[in-house]
Amino acid sequence: MSQVKFYSGENIPLEMHKVRIVQKLNLPTVEERLEAMKGAGFNTFLLQNKDVFMDMLTDSGVNAMSDRQQAAMMQADDSYAGSETFTRLQQALENIFGTKYFLPTHQGRACENVISQTYVTAGSVVPMNYHFTTSKAHIVLNGGRVEEVYKDEALNITSNNPFKGDMDIAKLRAVIEEAGAENVPFVRMEAGTNLIGGQPHSLANMKEVRKVCDEYGVMLVLDASLLADNLHFIKTREEAYQNKSIREITREIADLADIIYFSARKLGNARGGGICTNNEEAYMKMREYITLYEGFLTYGGMSVREMEAIAVGLEETMDEEMINQGPQFIQFMTEELQKRGVPVITPAGGLGCHIDARSFLPHVAQQDYPAGALASAIYIASGARGMERGTMSEQRNEDGTEPLANMELVRMALPRRVFTMSQVKYAADRIAWLYDNRDLIGGLEFVEEPNVLRFFFGRLQATSNWPEQLAKKFREDFGNSL
Ligand code: F0G
Repeated sequence: MSQVKFYSGENIPLEMHKVRIVQKLNLPTVEERLEAMKGAGFNTFLLQNKDVFMDMLTDSGVNAMSDRQQAAMMQADDSYAGSETFTRLQQALENIFGTKYFLPTHQGRACENVISQTYVTAGSVVPMNYHFTTSKAHIVLNGGRVEEVYKDEALNITSNNPFKGDMDIAKLRAVIEEAGAENVPFVRMEAGTNLIGGQPHSLANMKEVRKVCDEYGVMLVLDASLLADNLHFIKTREEAYQNKSIREITREIADLADIIYFSARKLGNARGGGICTNNEEAYMKMREYITLYEGFLTYGGMSVREMEAIAVGLEETMDEEMINQGPQFIQFMTEELQKRGVPVITPAGGLGCHIDARSFLPHVAQQDYPAGALASAIYIASGARGMERGTMSEQRNEDGTEPLANMELVRMALPRRVFTMSQVKYAADRIAWLYDNRDLIGGLEFVEEPNVLRFFFGRLQATSNWPEQLAKKFREDFGNSL
């Protein structure tokens, strides 16, 4: 994306790439979409891709690759041990993070497994700016507890705060004091804080966090999965870094962390993951788990082709014109929705456009999963599938009660360089129609509820015939249109 000004004065993000490979899409009729949603148990994870027009479920593993990434995949060096490909990836990581050691994994949550198994024990407390589903699950599985130390501002849907992902330093101190530093194996900082709307943290805040970690002798672990977006926001929103290059900002962040891990399904625009560190002791401790769970130390469950693509993708991430595409498209969609009165998270963050289901559907109680219901309704209205990020994404308490989520969001992810402007406008337009017909939407209830990460494959049903009513209204309003 460039900072090109349009003569008309319109503010349109201009793509700095061209499309050379395309994939045909299918847009089913509203009646077919209704049936597909019912068949998927009102869980967008269970839809079949053939029934999906715009797959806005996630940016994970579905970002567009560059020609250079594809070319690199052709020269991958396949061997169980000691492949040249591994050396190239390790080198790419060392170039950008300055880290000597690299432990490859098959994806981000595998890093979380390895880090948690190495460091989390019964009674451990892990402070973090905000939890992510898989990161929390691994800490809990190993007997630990997550303490979120976000600033109050983080949960405000509408805000002018450019860094809602920042940690509250006083809260961080208090949590460590209360737990006792010896029970805090590490502090986890998540770049581009996923569950609160892809909100970034500032570099200034991370420096403060580092100081606290030093004070108490606690490690700082950075989840860099969404670092690309966060880098863009530091460059554009943090005064002190406006004249620094993305590479310099990356290095400054990396130097603050003891361990960096990432999902390469996001960072690096391919599929895989890994853990980077300069701490030899940490490397030695964690590597045993790599060979146990992931694969040999020079591939860790990844295909060498993907590793080549990640190495190039990481280098490309150092280009501001590349990494600003996601955030600028997200901002565009957010503004389109705002114009139509749809409640969205502001400021626009990374990863996707986040719709506030609570104010969209004030008549649906949190126990009836308003964000899940809205995600289903959006699919029925548009064929675009987003993801529930609310109470459904939480885990039931041991006593069977439901912990109500802080936020009820529907995330419409914008995988990088995948959708065109007219497609984004289409999605926003259908969501605006839905907003004008929001009274028709009702709640959901589980009919099949898994114990762990239930949102992935749990099945639900509508609490009334609202989905049918919605499809009927769509037909009335749109006539023969798809
Ligand atoms: N950390 C963050 C911040 C993430 O967003 C994710 C994945 C992970 C860790 C786990 O990585 O999927 O490669 O195992 N987020 C995906 C999403 C699933 O859709 O937001 P993974």
